[in-house]
Amino acid sequence: MSRIHFEQLPAEVRQAVADKTGAVHQAETMRGGMNSGIASVLDTDSGSVFVKGIPADHPQVGAQRREAAVAPHLPPSCPRLYWHLELDGWSLLGYEVVDGRHADYAPGSPDLPLVEAALTELQGIMAPTDVEIKQAVDRWEEYVPPGTLQHFDGDALLHTDYAPDNVLIVGERARLVDWAWPTRGAAWIDPGALALRLMDAGHPVEAAVDFAGRFPSWRSAEPEALATFGAATAALWREIADQNGTVWKRAMAQQAATLGRALGAPVSAAGGAAAGDCPGPCR
Ligand SMILES: Nc1ncnc2c1ncn2[C@@H]1O[C@H](COP(=O)(O)OP(=O)(O)OP(=O)(O)O)[C@@H](O)[C@H]1O
Ligand SMILES: [Mg+2]
Repeated sequence: MSRIHFEQLPAEVRQAVADKTGAVHQAETMRGGMNSGIASVLDTDSGSVFVKGIPADHPQVGAQRREAAVAPHLPPSCPRLYWHLELDGWSLLGYEVVDGRHADYAPGSPDLPLVEAALTELQGIMAPTDVEIKQAVDRWEEYVPPGTLQHFDGDALLHTDYAPDNVLIVGERARLVDWAWPTRGAAWIDPGALALRLMDAGHPVEAAVDFAGRFPSWRSAEPEALATFGAATAALWREIADQNGTVWKRAMAQQAATLGRALGAPVSAAGGAAAGDCPGPCR
């Protein structure tokens, strides 16, 4: 959706924010991401705050509510959620500001060890049981070859959307933002999702898979589990590209097919499309 500036929000909504933060002196709209109708860093009486928001009737408002619900369970690499407001047709989240830049995933980038450290920290976190989050087995159900879905089951808390604009670099630290798709599942899924994004940034498939191998969860995963992931990822991105074939999505679909083959996915699965709802951020 198109993004509006903070000043364009209804006056009642801006007042509700000011009730939380103190007077708002300035607002800067952030780049990156798609779904947030507003994403602004505010300078307020109580300091800086990052506000992201979505109209309450937007189909993704459920994702915003999941993001709020999972916030207390996130590791220190993730910015702190201060408040969640729903009023006058808007759902807004107020976060600690991460004054950084989007991660650079290019081969040899000094950001890569920082991203590795943040994901290593996350890999030790169990998914909360008292919060309604997505299940990996549900998200990938329509995309896996028959009889293989059990590989996606697990207790880890997964981010799953490693687009580089969801990883902010500040000094010597990577911070994970945008928890719209918190998911419970097998821990190796996140290294796999990151590997595909590394390929998109120019890593050959072998290097991307090697990077995933830095995480013990990936190293100890059964080869059939990884082949299943490869098949499902290829099927998912094929479907996304078929639905809306922008150059970027077609390129991602090709990378995903390459990843699928490298992980030993059956040729038909790695190359074929599957039916079903998109199980993730389709952009
Ligand atoms: N805590 C933060 N501090 C400063 N900037 C942030 C923070 N969180 C996110 N941003 C910036 O705002 C952009 C959009 O935020 P975010 O990724 O959370 O939403 P989105 O991608 O629009 O949402 P969705 O996943 O629902 O499409 C990010 O790419 C980043 O540049
Ligand atoms: Mg984002």
